[in-house]
Amino acid sequence: MTNVLFVCLGNICRSPMAEGLFKKLISDQNLQAKINVDSAGISDEEEGNQPHPGAQAEMAKHGLDISNLRSRPITTADFHWADLIIGMDSQNIYYLKQMADSSDQKKIHLCLDIVEKEAGQDIPDPWYDHKFGRTYQQLSRALPKWLDYVKSNLH
Ligand code: 4NP
Repeated sequence: MTNVLFVCLGNICRSPMAEGLFKKLISDQNLQAKINVDSAGISDEEEGNQPHPGAQAEMAKHGLDISNLRSRPITTADFHWADLIIGMDSQNIYYLKQMADSSDQKKIHLCLDIVEKEAGQDIPDPWYDHKFGRTYQQLSRALPKWLDYVKSNLH
């Protein structure tokens, strides 16, 4: 099994959207028995809450239902569970690297680093400008490449 964890600040916008989309890509390739996916937030501000209505609406446009997801803060156990930890912006990466043991540092990656022309760029927080379509498009460029990465590097 390979365990993949998506992380953002609140775990109600970007990372649950990533979880929902990555699960769809995994099921399209019949890889459910090989890859687990979860998401978490740096902050506990939204703990227990559903994904933002705008995030749910954007995913629904693409036939994806993420209404069952609930926000939760990342814990130290997540760093042991995960083989790959994908953060959405440089602030997420900063906090993840602060929290992780030295042996887990290499698991941490910035989401858009896998997209050659967008490497180093953040996926901005749609919580402020409600541009959930932009978030979906960014994730849909990066996540198929992360799935290829998992298939070729972690199995
Ligand atoms: P997310 O968006 O990190 O993409 O889930 C946010 C959601 C909530 C907050 C910040 C970002 N907040 O400050 O509560």
